[in-house]
Amino acid sequence: MKHLAQGIITRRTELSESYFLLELECQEIAREALPGQFIMLECKGETFLKRPMGLSSADPEKGVISFIYHVTGKGTRSLHSQLIGETIEVIGPLGNSFWKEKNARTIGLVAGGTGIGPLLMFGNWALKNSPETEIIGFIGAKNAKMICGEKEMKRFAKEVYCATNDGSFGYKGFVTDLLTEFLSKNSLESIIACGPTQMMKKTAEIASERNLQCQVSLEEHMACGFGACIGCIAEIKGQGYSMICAKGPVFDASEVVWKESNL
Ligand SMILES: Cc1cc2nc3c(=O)[nH]c(=O)nc-3n(C[C@H](O)[C@H](O)[C@H](O)COP(=O)(O)OP(=O)(O)OC[C@H]3O[C@@H](n4cnc5c(N)ncnc54)[C@H](O)[C@@H]3O)c2cc1C
Ligand code: FES
Repeated sequence: MKHLAQGIITRRTELSESYFLLELECQEIAREALPGQFIMLECKGETFLKRPMGLSSADPEKGVISFIYHVTGKGTRSLHSQLIGETIEVIGPLGNSFWKEKNARTIGLVAGGTGIGPLLMFGNWALKNSPETEIIGFIGAKNAKMICGEKEMKRFAKEVYCATNDGSFGYKGFVTDLLTEFLSKNSLESIIACGPTQMMKKTAEIASERNLQCQVSLEEHMACGFGACIGCIAEIKGQGYSMICAKGPVFDASEVVWKESNL
């Protein structure tokens, strides 16, 4: 069930260059949120629309949720200027969640940018609820300073590999090239990808070529976040156009019709 709630900012932690983890006290959402779900968050300042943010944790006992943001534009700049103790309006939890394939013992998590957030929540969920699951993490970034969430992922993953476009840390190249190289010598039973659309599209191709189950968390500009404005569509095979916020954001990658834009 979604709630319109007031979240109190309790902590901001810098994870890497312009990537921050924000913790909010918000009992209603913390009690119910699942990995893969998101919130719509008031950013104040000049922004009228709330911004969707994928949850990176939800602690029902402490009543605290968190998400990772990257300072990109108006909304995130304004969010970044808000102080500890300030209250912001939040709607959530929204959307569907990642699912664990029954027979998947080894799962690859492929993250780009703030896509790391929902994958951290999934990994911590798996550690608690499915401890036999082996997680292998893949994190991509432009350069070493922008690698986000490696330390946090190492808390639950058996191995974590990083790729940077300029080779300043880990593998030189795209995280999807690193995934291809890994799969030439090792196996995975399932993949979950969250990050830029091109990264998820390529991950979907890699999975399809190897017959691996793959989930992706799609992103589109969102105005409402719960199916009221029809502003966030994606074409899904056999279903026509679906609203990402209501039917997703998590989809089976093999069902997504990948395009430059759906609008
Ligand atoms: C389901 C979902 C989960 C998300 N989770 C997170 C998260 O955990 N952390 C996070 O930082 N961001 C997340 N986003 C993106 C976020 O909602 C904002 O769009 C983004 O932070 C930029 O907002 P802004 O107001 O700072 O930038 P704006 O001033 O709105 O835009 C700055 C630039 O970024 C582009 N842009 C804005 N939104 C998107 C988008 N969704 N996709 C591609 N380009 C875009 C604009 O076209 C513009 O060029 C998520 C989006 C979705 C749909
Ligand atoms: S954001 Fe309004 S329908 Fe998806």
